[in-house]
Amino acid sequence: MCRKHTLAFIACVADDRDGGMADGLRRLIGATVAAIFSAAPEIERRRTAKNMAANRPMELTVARGAASLPASRWAGKGRAPNPQDVYERGFMAGLEAHYSARDIEARILAAIRAAGLNPDERLSPEELAALDHFHTGGLRASRELLELAQIRAEDRVLDIGAGLGGSARLLASALGCRVDCVEMSPDYCAGAVLLNRLTGLEDRITVHQGSALDLPFPDGSFDVVWMQNVGMNIEDKRQLYGEISRVLKPGGRYAFQEMAAGEAAISYFPLPWATEPADSFLVSAQEMRLALGGCGFSAELFEDTSDAHLGRSIANARPAAPGQLGLGIFVDNLAQKAENARCSLEEGQVRLVRGVFRVK
Ligand SMILES: C[S@@+](CC[C@H](N)C(=O)[O-])C[C@H]1O[C@@H](n2cnc3c(N)ncnc32)[C@H](O)[C@@H]1O
Repeated sequence: MCRKHTLAFIACVADDRDGGMADGLRRLIGATVAAIFSAAPEIERRRTAKNMAANRPMELTVARGAASLPASRWAGKGRAPNPQDVYERGFMAGLEAHYSARDIEARILAAIRAAGLNPDERLSPEELAALDHFHTGGLRASRELLELAQIRAEDRVLDIGAGLGGSARLLASALGCRVDCVEMSPDYCAGAVLLNRLTGLEDRITVHQGSALDLPFPDGSFDVVWMQNVGMNIEDKRQLYGEISRVLKPGGRYAFQEMAAGEAAISYFPLPWATEPADSFLVSAQEMRLALGGCGFSAELFEDTSDAHLGRSIANARPAAPGQLGLGIFVDNLAQKAENARCSLEEGQVRLVRGVFRVK
């Protein structure tokens, strides 16, 4: 089936080549503009074009206090001015542009109303699930991981790369536990804060804009670290797993699902996690296990769920019908990205894995 899309894919690559010079210029201007306009009183971000492109540890300084403000207070106060608010998308660089969504709060509210829901009444996390579980398998996959990780009400959980926080709300509402979210995208942070408020869960969930590679928490803060479909964006796995190990209490668990490298190189772009190859950093399942082992983790569960996933429908990856909630409300070009992901999985270019690892 995927082969049928080869011509469309070639056309897409050709378009990219035609626009290559203009794109390079846009990126250069974008990096400069973002650097100038991202300074804010409470959150100061210093990035180099190099570490933005490779998602290496950013020189990210969260001013004291801003990182630990409750979500309800954080929203308007500590938020860095988003270059996207002022400049067109084309001015932004790499991964930051990939995970940006202009006017996300207005878009979400309009979509909720269009779906026949009333944002002035408390919404349930389940009602929002088609919108806010931005990972393979959607809500079903989150529920399965929750069971596998055996998370308890008393556990303090960190959701890394939390996106709009759908899984954090599932954990907080289903189990009653406290969840901290770390998310790189200021737009997604704003969306998560809004949805926490609409579901009445802002007291149990705190949103931090920050980097997985420089987690803003003391050592041994969490019982569980949770991560879904994020590691694919991160080149420095050692730093990532080292940070996860550092913030876990002794004996704490790391529960995750993500894409691993398959037998062949990826040939379909854009993907849900990367507009272009420079933003995608897949390692094989074996390399993942070794890297985790090197950071003091041992596997309680590690499995390849690719075939099981392919046998199911991927409801949340389809563009929603008008009046229905879906990822397409904040993810550009969703249909093509989802189709490319499916082709990559079907052709063995990527594998879907999940695991629960315990740190010593
Ligand atoms: C495919 S989305 C998954 C979102 C969320 N985990 C979910 O399942 O709904 C990947 C997320 O990882 C975030 N991300 C990527 N690299 C990151 C990093 N170094 N630090 C923090 N967040 C990151 C992106 O901004 C994006 O929200």
